[in-house]
Amino acid sequence: MIMDPFDEPGGDRPLLEVDQLAVEFRTDDGVVRAVNGVSFAVEAGRTLAIVGESGSGKSVTAQAVLGLLQTPPAKITGGTIKFRGVDLLTMPRREHRAVCGEHIAMVFQDALAALNPVYSVGFQLGEALVARRGMSRRAARARAVELLDLVQVPNSAQRVRDYPHEFSGGMRQRVMIAMALAMEPEVLIADEPTTALDVTVQAQIMRLLAEIQAERDMGLILITHDLGVVADVADEITVMYAGRAVEQAGVHELFAAPAHPYTEALLRSIPRVDRKGQELEVIAGRPPELTRIPAGCPFHPRCARAQDVCRTDPPPPVLEVAPGRRSACHFAADLVAT
Ligand SMILES: Nc1ncnc2c1ncn2[C@@H]1O[C@H](COP(=O)(O)OP(=O)(O)OP(=O)(O)O)[C@@H](O)[C@H]1O
Ligand code: SF4
Ligand SMILES: [Mg+2]
Repeated sequence: MIMDPFDEPGGDRPLLEVDQLAVEFRTDDGVVRAVNGVSFAVEAGRTLAIVGESGSGKSVTAQAVLGLLQTPPAKITGGTIKFRGVDLLTMPRREHRAVCGEHIAMVFQDALAALNPVYSVGFQLGEALVARRGMSRRAARARAVELLDLVQVPNSAQRVRDYPHEFSGGMRQRVMIAMALAMEPEVLIADEPTTALDVTVQAQIMRLLAEIQAERDMGLILITHDLGVVADVADEITVMYAGRAVEQAGVHELFAAPAHPYTEALLRSIPRVDRKGQELEVIAGRPPELTRIPAGCPFHPRCARAQDVCRTDPPPPVLEVAPGRRSACHFAADLVAT
């Protein structure tokens, strides 16, 4: 029997605090520094968005929090991941996973792959409740219907008997969210929960997540490559590039005046109603191979503001450049001042 040190409610510290997390993969091509000194915190009732292009280390960060990384090839080489003040990385892996099973849940991107095609949705929703809460099958079925109601699946009493392939993509993603909520987690991590969906359904799912988060006073981490998707629902944003956090700020501050050129570029690539008719800009070039990160600032080959110093001197790690604004750019102070 694994003891759960978190049965008592915590104080007013953040629910989840990640500090200087570093994760490497040893590959035939060399060492991939997938996460390189990333820190963030999530409080109850708040939503943090982690945003960055493909390969920036978002999912590896989430997997490290949940104890899901295969070690090897992965190795956590530094940092702490504290849930209510206790470092999950000092626990045996089994215990880490058990704590997450009870308190920190994950919604995966690909609902069809994550659901088992041969069991009804109701069976899968109730599975953890039977196994971990000792609920009877009948009680678990009733709870599964409630969970489907919670995520606004119509006709829940009938739909609970259906199989995953009988649901649309958006409805399947709702089922995934219901499943993540079954154990009443305090922190929910949603990794690209809407990428496979069309724009209208994306917005509905985001709204649903925000509603549930507020109702339950959960901490929510939304992982996405699309800054536009989280504009209405996030409180804080961490922007990642090549395994590092490059900007961290409140959502309003970040949208009003980004303090890092990469965030500026991401913002220019979002369709906006107030800029109808203007061409959207794509960010030129590609993120670096993590085995071959360029000298100086990792963003310099793509940065419109790069100066000579950027090609030789790495910028400081993300640090406060104005109240509540953190950036990892040589010229961050100028950016916030303008
Ligand atoms: N098992 C692995 N072995 C080697 N490298 C890996 C492994 N898993 C991830 N990586 C590398 O770690 C880096 C970060 O990957 P991660 O999946 O976190 O990116 P991401 O930001 O979630 O991207 P996406 O938006 O495409 O989901 C990538 O360069 C990836 O190739
Ligand atoms: S340090 Fe230089 S290259 Fe890097 S983001 Fe800032 S201006 Fe651009
Ligand atoms: Mg990912």
